[in-house]
Amino acid sequence: MATVIFYEKQRCASNALQKAMLENTEPMPPSTGAERVTAYHTRTKHSLNHYAAGPEALDWTMQPNPFREFSDTLLINLPLGAQQLTTPLSSIYQPDDFEPQPLSLKSVGALLELSMGISAWKEYGPDRWALRCNPSSGNLHPTEAYLICQNIPALENGLYHYVSRDHALEQRCRNQSELPGEDGRLFIGLSSVHWREAWKYGERAFRYCQLDVGHALGALRYAAGALGWRLRLVEDVNNSELEKLLGLDRSSDFERAEHEEADLLLEVMLRPMTGSQHDLAHLITLENGAHWAGTANVLDPHPMYHWPVIDEIAAATRRTASTANATAWESHPLLAHSRDKPAADVILQRRSAQRLDATASMTLEDFCLMLDRLLPRQMAPWDIWNFEPCVHPVFFVHRIHGLKPGLYALPRSRNAKDRLRAALRKEFLWEKAQQCPDHLPLFLLTQADCRSAARTISCHQAIAADGCFSLGMLAEFDEVVASDPWRYRQLHWEAALLGHVLYLEAEVMNLRGTGIGCFIDDAFHEILGITGTEFQSIYHFTVGRPLLDTRILTQPPYPNRDADTITQ
Ligand SMILES: Cc1cc2nc3c(=O)[nH]c(=O)nc-3n(C[C@H](O)[C@H](O)[C@H](O)COP(=O)(O)O)c2cc1C
Repeated sequence: MATVIFYEKQRCASNALQKAMLENTEPMPPSTGAERVTAYHTRTKHSLNHYAAGPEALDWTMQPNPFREFSDTLLINLPLGAQQLTTPLSSIYQPDDFEPQPLSLKSVGALLELSMGISAWKEYGPDRWALRCNPSSGNLHPTEAYLICQNIPALENGLYHYVSRDHALEQRCRNQSELPGEDGRLFIGLSSVHWREAWKYGERAFRYCQLDVGHALGALRYAAGALGWRLRLVEDVNNSELEKLLGLDRSSDFERAEHEEADLLLEVMLRPMTGSQHDLAHLITLENGAHWAGTANVLDPHPMYHWPVIDEIAAATRRTASTANATAWESHPLLAHSRDKPAADVILQRRSAQRLDATASMTLEDFCLMLDRLLPRQMAPWDIWNFEPCVHPVFFVHRIHGLKPGLYALPRSRNAKDRLRAALRKEFLWEKAQQCPDHLPLFLLTQADCRSAARTISCHQAIAADGCFSLGMLAEFDEVVASDPWRYRQLHWEAALLGHVLYLEAEVMNLRGTGIGCFIDDAFHEILGITGTEFQSIYHFTVGRPLLDTRILTQPPYPNRDADTITQ
């Protein structure tokens, strides 16, 4: 199955580069976890002279199967019909205003339909490909979702794998032992098949997998919000426990199939969390009296390249301990939307823009509203975890009414402004954008026409210049990675959450966003005057008015399935 995604295909293929790439496939020298992370991050930077090590040639007909399946499992078709949920997007930010749906097969189906499910099939000539509610770099979808269910009507207790193509659950493990407590509980585990990304992107693929996990997290948080639910990241589970819980350590079930790396575990909360939810021990009892089924399918029978550095960075960033800290949430006022839409519609219509209108502009009001949703508060999607914000966008403003074109920074935590100011160019103005509401910490750094720079930095992609604005996301790198190398993953999740908010808010405003994973790292840093690794850019994004390609046909996501009625 071919896709029409070419943004990282134009590689420079000089002899010198090929030599450098071969050298780059050597494993990393042993060092501390934080040093390994920095070494990986550095070697996977794109530069103006060459891209990070990746395959020299791609045979699109050999693309790995985008759908993981487990043979010989009980298949449970999930109901469709999430579109009937009428929750406005704005209510997801204020969930106390409506009753949560009960846990049932229908609501679980709606959660998955609106997060990891297919949103449309696309056709162009002989090519046909699926789009999902969660975006993914290169549409390669390395993220897999698992459910651990306890006392949910019509679902036996145990572990299930979600097959987005069929909107169905495969029963991986049935648990006959009685689990304590009568209330229904639902956990969602995410994992990544690194090879799905590495096949196309080589060594940089680990970063993309983490960004995709972050988008899946955002997609799940908004989908949960449409049902009146919250999500919490389960902090007291380490990687090996999670592997066990999700059955990813069962080597005989993955004999020839590509390995999945455990990423994170979430719990669905029908009510705001009170007290500690520590009960992992109960989940681990899944093991006792458990009946396993299923063998994973092989996604790529003929892998051509190997990128050992990906396994090394995965090992260096596995979570070994709980490192959450209590966040002092800010209580900024929440700007009200003049144009609300049902969340389900927004989620299902979300797409990445492939071309943007280079003449279109957006209003300052819409821009401020987008920025407002990026501020950390105890609301979706930021309430997923208890960590201080560590990712701060720097905007290339191109065409926003009432705002001078130029570079702007949005420090997202109280002390970030001073630290950014110290790390960025001394000449920057740091003038508060007075046109924006007081609580928005948006600062003009310099007035300039940034279109050409934005385009160059984004691997020469026109969407970065043709949008109303584009941005790079600066992560507090050294300090966070030194505190726990696992947080290298989490920095990417936070950046992708920022991107996910922009994707959805853009749709409400009849605009469109696109994540930009292909960017020239140090060229961006150079513009900002960043010389060390205290701050590093980890994701870019653009928003503008989309130009649609009418040659591409859109087909329904599940053409052979009827929608069921959901009452709310
Ligand atoms: C982490 C990430 C990086 C991406 N990088 C780029 C990029 O550099 N250029 C681009 O045109 N699209 C990029 N995309 C958009 C994907 O190509 C797009 O999500 C995918 O094709 C699926 O299409 P959809 O978002 O419309 O569902 C990126 C998406 C993600 C999530």
